[in-house]
Amino acid sequence: MSSTESLRKDHFLIEKMMRALSTTADLLKAGKTIPAPVLEQAIDFVKNFTNVCHHGKEETSLFPTLEKNGMPREGGPIARMLFEHEITKQLAEKIEASAKEYIQTNKADALIADIRSYTDHVSLHLSKENFRLFMMADMILQGKAAQMNKELAETEEAKLKELGKTRGHYEQLANDFEAEMVRRA
Ligand SMILES: [Fe+2]
Ligand SMILES: [Fe+2]
Repeated sequence: MSSTESLRKDHFLIEKMMRALSTTADLLKAGKTIPAPVLEQAIDFVKNFTNVCHHGKEETSLFPTLEKNGMPREGGPIARMLFEHEITKQLAEKIEASAKEYIQTNKADALIADIRSYTDHVSLHLSKENFRLFMMADMILQGKAAQMNKELAETEEAKLKELGKTRGHYEQLANDFEAEMVRRA
């Protein structure tokens, strides 16, 4: 078992949403209409699953454990990842605002640009974690994987409880959103 298994599973789900959101931007660019409830699903996912649940697991469980095991917080990959989480949050807020504008005015330009900035940033962030930080974590936490995964599972449960949602809700949401984009493409 790898110490980052639970986080890699989250990334798989987030990557599915990033691909579907790229299709959303392409559809809007082609002049297609995306209904408000469909956009609201994507906003629920990026604000709650990604920012609260997944970043919560990294920030409250993984990063402090890495620090305790000798990885410096300042000037290293942890500080960089925290900074990128903040940018992710700001970009998600921009999508929420431009989606509201789109729903009211049917003007899609700002929403298209905001979705593209978001998916570019998040895709790069995920690949940095997958291929750098998580590889380092797997080495540093060798022999501690069971404990790390237990802590990640506990944080996930607490964060989802805070949101009043389940993991199944977000897995279903990602599948439904992807299917909806495939259907409309
Ligand atoms: Fe992250
Ligand atoms: Fe991550």
